[in-house]
Amino acid sequence: MSSEATEETEATEATKSAPSSPDEMGVFGTFALFELGASWAELNGASRRVGAREPLEVIAAHTERVAVDGYLTVGLTERSHFLLRLHARQPEQSQAVIADLLRTRPGRHLTVRHTLTGVTRPLVYASQAPDQLQALQATEYAGGLPPRYAVVIPTRKSAAWWNLPEAKRLALMREHTAVGIEYLAKVKRRLYHATGLADADFVTWFETDDLAAFSALVARLRALREDTYNERLGAPTILGTARTLDELFTELAH
Ligand code: HEM
Repeated sequence: MSSEATEETEATEATKSAPSSPDEMGVFGTFALFELGASWAELNGASRRVGAREPLEVIAAHTERVAVDGYLTVGLTERSHFLLRLHARQPEQSQAVIADLLRTRPGRHLTVRHTLTGVTRPLVYASQAPDQLQALQATEYAGGLPPRYAVVIPTRKSAAWWNLPEAKRLALMREHTAVGIEYLAKVKRRLYHATGLADADFVTWFETDDLAAFSALVARLRALREDTYNERLGAPTILGTARTLDELFTELAH
């Protein structure tokens, strides 16, 4: 086999299986926010209950390539009912799940209100701050049970940020990380790089049981010099509650 053919086989193999964890690098996270139209509620209860199983079947059909998590957002994030977080080695694999979902019976009543895609990457700044890196790695989420709430905050930084000398960015990110570390036991976090993939440079993802602490954390980060380089923070901020997919689609059938 030629080396080209070998590379091709390796690339195909690499896109085959769903990432076991977003801790892996090069994992694409796609975040899709859906609103269920009023026409769905007008169907009779039996049709809704039967129809609501179809998304589960569609997601199960992709399970080997795409890991999907569900969050109920109705009442917490305007113009939406639920959020799906999809992890795959290629965004087209997540796209296929969403396209199939929209072809299901409830799918015909769904509007995609917002989508974001980002990719996990090795640390840029923390790897250059060994003391902070150690604290980041050593501090575990102390909640025990999986956190109830998820928050997605897309952010975009200004050209002035990207043009700062690296040492200056590193110093400003040290301040960010120092504040963040204080909240690590209460807040789980995940960073996806989105420059060129969405109208954001980052998709930041958080899970917590303590939204008051989370809000205090964001307020403290907003008071830092680094925040003056944020052109976008949220817009939208997406807040939801964790559900299994089964729970999510059962609730939507009611
Ligand atoms: C649990 C609290 C938090 C901790 C421990 C934390 C820690 C960190 C660390 C270590 C980095 C640098 C990653 C790298 O080295 O590449 C980072 C980047 C970032 N964090 Fe946080 N953070 C926290 C909360 C937040 C919150 C609440 C937001 C937004 C509302 C946020 C937004 C960001 C963004 C946008 C970046 C990328 C910055 C850039 O590369 O220019 N973080 N965070």
